[in-house]
Amino acid sequence: MERRVFLKSAAIGTLSAGIAASAFGAERHYPVKVDPGLFETINRAKDPSHKTPLEMSHLPVITAPSKVKAGEPFTVEVGIGEKLHPMGPSHWIEYIALNIGNEPAGRIDMQSKGYLKPKAAFTVVLTKEDAPNGKVTLIARQRCNLHGLWESGMDVEVA
Ligand SMILES: [Fe+2]
Repeated sequence: MERRVFLKSAAIGTLSAGIAASAFGAERHYPVKVDPGLFETINRAKDPSHKTPLEMSHLPVITAPSKVKAGEPFTVEVGIGEKLHPMGPSHWIEYIALNIGNEPAGRIDMQSKGYLKPKAAFTVVLTKEDAPNGKVTLIARQRCNLHGLWESGMDVEVA
């Protein structure tokens, strides 16, 4: 086998084994059934007007002004789930992250002890350069130890 082909297939094999190991690792440590399909992609609302119970409890809920002034700080709150997701030793939210468009802006890591509720507030400042079309998309992501990576987005007008 040519060296380049070997390295490419080894990298792909390692990546997919890592994703599968993550899902099955969770199942090994916790006596619950884990759907490995949830760990293969970024999960989003399939039909935002008819969310499934899993979507309702895992999609980040972004609270932010729909219109902001360039250069002025504003608060973006991200809560996990319409009713906040549980936090305990066998099932918890590992982190909440905020992207400004494709650019990672920040992330809050949480432990399973249950001291924290899965809700975070970020103070954000956007410039006109951040919004060449007058809008910026805020992307919030979270990772649940049993249900994988979830994402929601919200457009903010920058004036
Ligand atoms: Fe979960």
